[in-house]
Amino acid sequence: MCGIVGYIGNEDAKEVLLRGLEKLEYRGYDSAGIALVNNEGVHVFKEKGRIAALRGVVDTTVEGTVGIGHTRWATHGVPSRVNAHPHQSETARFTLVHNGVIENYEQLKREYLSNVEFQSDTDTEVIVQLVEQFVEAGKSVEAAFSQTLSLLKGSYATALLDKQNKDLVYVGKNKSPLLIGLSDGANVIASDAMAVLQVTNQFVEIVDQEVVLVSRDNVTIKKLDGTVVTREPFTAELDASDIEKGTYPHFMLKEIDEQPFVIRNIVQKYRNDDGSVRLDDSIRQAMSAADRVYIIAAGTSYHAGLVGKQLIEKIAQKPVEVHIASEFLYNMPLLSENPLFIFISQSGETADLRGVLVEVKEQGYPTLTITNVPGSTLSREADFTLHTYAGPEIAVASTKAYTAQMAVLTLLAVNTASARGIELDFDPIQELGIVASAMETLCDQKEELEQIARDYLATTPNCFFIGRAADYFVCLEGSLKLKEISYIQAEGFAGGELKHGTIALIEDGTPVIAIATQSHVNLSIRGNVKEVAARGANTCIISMEGLEQEGDSLVLPKVHEYLTSLTTVIPLQLISYYAALHRDCDVDKPRNLAKSVTVE
Ligand code: F6R
Repeated sequence: MCGIVGYIGNEDAKEVLLRGLEKLEYRGYDSAGIALVNNEGVHVFKEKGRIAALRGVVDTTVEGTVGIGHTRWATHGVPSRVNAHPHQSETARFTLVHNGVIENYEQLKREYLSNVEFQSDTDTEVIVQLVEQFVEAGKSVEAAFSQTLSLLKGSYATALLDKQNKDLVYVGKNKSPLLIGLSDGANVIASDAMAVLQVTNQFVEIVDQEVVLVSRDNVTIKKLDGTVVTREPFTAELDASDIEKGTYPHFMLKEIDEQPFVIRNIVQKYRNDDGSVRLDDSIRQAMSAADRVYIIAAGTSYHAGLVGKQLIEKIAQKPVEVHIASEFLYNMPLLSENPLFIFISQSGETADLRGVLVEVKEQGYPTLTITNVPGSTLSREADFTLHTYAGPEIAVASTKAYTAQMAVLTLLAVNTASARGIELDFDPIQELGIVASAMETLCDQKEELEQIARDYLATTPNCFFIGRAADYFVCLEGSLKLKEISYIQAEGFAGGELKHGTIALIEDGTPVIAIATQSHVNLSIRGNVKEVAARGANTCIISMEGLEQEGDSLVLPKVHEYLTSLTTVIPLQLISYYAALHRDCDVDKPRNLAKSVTVE
């Protein structure tokens, strides 16, 4: 979490930094700050809250051609102006921004910095104070910076300014993402290429435990031991318009509406001319060789993994386990003889997944990442990658990445089935086309869905989603969407499980949204609806064409039984969106959250 941006060039850095931070706000938005260097010295502006608040305190008359900026998601120390980055050393010679967590900061404080008076409660401040200590002890700034980084345990992406040298920014990284952008007479630093697309689309990747010296016309990459590394730049294939809202009031609504296009795009990317599914042979072989697949994911991606398990088991007849990334290493299952690990991650940066990836790679197991960001850490570090081609997802609540993940998992399952010689009565290309059209129909039903949100969720403190079979998994996702953006206490339950305890929570008027898209459980889920209705619940049934009954609130267009989650989630996303809107919540940037969870 947290976003970093930096600029060194010949223009005033202020706007590049502030605009960059606005693009990085998805990484955290508790507080923010920038530092600008000019002939008078270093000028630091910080504020609690969003970048808009920071803009309010930046002195527009101060200019500087070198600068760094930061948007924070607090880990150590409350969100406040004091704890906001940049942080400065005791004499204010050095100024630094940091994304990550320094696990041994207390020990470093005790060992090296007992005489230093700290200004903040952050772990970050230890970095900048250490650099100053080592410089005061006689080291060059570069040596002091490298020595400091070599002492840090944990994750960091960091940029350092030295008041005495306006021609250099010192950069380092370990586990947290960071890129250097190259331009004519200027170079930039960013946690995500999106932040600086207005300056360049040429980037150099930085690898863990490297130090980078960035000047206006040069970028020198070194290992911590001083060995120089050469690395070719790459072009970020991002269109600046992808990261704008356009005429939409919120990114979330735009991204919900993009889903039919995303599904068609995925089909295009992975189809052969003869209509079969095209995946790299290496992935096909890895799937065939595995005797069991272990899906590792978090949050919404975990929910896509639950659907993926069903798809792979039903279509490719291969056993699959799905695990929450943050728990996997503590509750490690007994592994099969030839496991394949699949990491599902929109951002490709989630620290909990990376922890598992590092561990299973060390044990020699093959790994595949399914991600929306192909150059991301999980993509770079896994043996294979499948791209979900959803385009940048900016709203913190994931929507199109989820459906894209399920579409790619469908194609993976079909490709594996064909590698295993399994005959299918299921044409994924055609069926996903039907899904895309059904999604379009549902995206056009915004008025009805807004009404449902108003009827059921305008004032309620809680809400339950119930479903059976595949519908249960989409209930988990629907409840996560609702709680994260509207702050309604929402839970997804297997329909049959309610009477084992949760039904005690049903009171007069408690909203219960039931999903009924599975023919083999249609009657039983409707039985569960009757049970809660008899206890006063305000019930809403979302069913699928062919299974509908009188009184259902919404009937979804028919899609293949394997793929219902892709369409069922659309009304749940829209209902959550409108509920949040009616309750005056910040839809795109819900409280306490960040889009990319790069701390464990
Ligand atoms: C919810 C949401 C999160 C993410 C989770 C994993 O809307 O976005 O639950 O799904 O933090 O993130 P990724 O997929 O980037 O690994």
